[in-house]
Amino acid sequence: MRPVPVILVGYGRMGRVHGLSSLRHPDDMEVVAVVDPSDDARRRARADLGDGTAMYTDLNECLCRHEGAACLVVSPTNLHAGAVRAALNAGRSVFCEKPLTLDQAESVALLDLAEHAELILQTGFYRRHSPTWRLARDTLRSGTIGRPVLLRLSQWDAEASAADVLDPDVGGGLIVDFGVHEFDLLLWLTGDSVEHVRSAGRSLDGQPATSARVETCVVVAELSGGGLGVVDLGTGVRYDDDVRGEIAGTLGRIFVETIPHGSVVLGDSGGLRSLELPHSEEPAVFTDAVIREQQAFARAVMCRSTASPDARDSIRAMLIAEAAMKSLDEGGSRVRVPDHPGLAMG
Ligand SMILES: NC(=O)c1ccc[n+]([C@@H]2O[C@H](COP(=O)([O-])OP(=O)(O)OC[C@H]3O[C@@H](n4cnc5c(N)ncnc54)[C@H](O)[C@@H]3O)[C@@H](O)[C@H]2O)c1
Repeated sequence: MRPVPVILVGYGRMGRVHGLSSLRHPDDMEVVAVVDPSDDARRRARADLGDGTAMYTDLNECLCRHEGAACLVVSPTNLHAGAVRAALNAGRSVFCEKPLTLDQAESVALLDLAEHAELILQTGFYRRHSPTWRLARDTLRSGTIGRPVLLRLSQWDAEASAADVLDPDVGGGLIVDFGVHEFDLLLWLTGDSVEHVRSAGRSLDGQPATSARVETCVVVAELSGGGLGVVDLGTGVRYDDDVRGEIAGTLGRIFVETIPHGSVVLGDSGGLRSLELPHSEEPAVFTDAVIREQQAFARAVMCRSTASPDARDSIRAMLIAEAAMKSLDEGGSRVRVPDHPGLAMG
């Protein structure tokens, strides 16, 4: 079978990760074109992907020239909606980086558009495709550590984020850009919903933060199953991008680390022991998971099946992020996470 042809929209930091990852499984997916208005980004894409990949500055022109190609949308978050809508209107299935959009009504409209057109709209919560996180989830769901009491999920980048990531109008700010991964993990690991949140944050000068200006943050989430989630987010640890978690249950604990490679340690009445992860060709948890999410997308497009995670997962994580930002702006008040009427069908 021939690889699924894809158009890569945006060749910045994460777009390049997707471009290079696609080269690792050429039988599943081929980047036939890159769209990016930046000359530097297109130059980098040409150097990485070769002369066989066409370069465009305009998505609509590219869609006309590459009939049948699906889209990977990796442009800045505030531009996702326009690109996803154009691709869906052109009859293309879409993988879109997280979060789908910054506006939940807009995300619901895109979800409807994809469903009516019977097209795939997958979102980029890569952790769900990581064997490390999947093993942690399977272990939790097997009941080995009993009922989850507290989940501590942590994301700290090596370097300070670019200004646009922290800009509420572009990347959504720290609680959105980093937090949606962890909020989605809380939901996916436990199968619970998040009912209320409280947040505390600091800016880099140590002052209390607002959602528009926060560089270190803790969000406490009350889960419908009775457990608590504690999500901490920050930057500047220098050694690496550090993503980790710990799940305390009534009968034990699961410890998850992703650097220097994935590890899952179980602690229970039998003591502490490392659980065996399935073999991966790619040792880095992040790259391995991105390759696997691309493979899942290619399979879904090829087999006309459904994609996971999807637009609903992005909307649910964003509703938690919005409540966490409200809490921060209200000085740490307890804020209810609303249901979204547009999600009633799924
Ligand atoms: N899954 C993850 O862990 C992860 C990690 C990083 C970023 N992301 C997501 O990836 C997306 C991009 O983030 P980034 O850090 O790569 O940003 P970035 O600013 O490094 O790159 C964005 C690229 O998009 C290009 N661009 C701007 N306007 C465009 C347009 N109209 N059409 C096509 N391209 C356009 C820019 O020139 C730039 O090259 C964001 O949504 C972010 O949330 C996800």
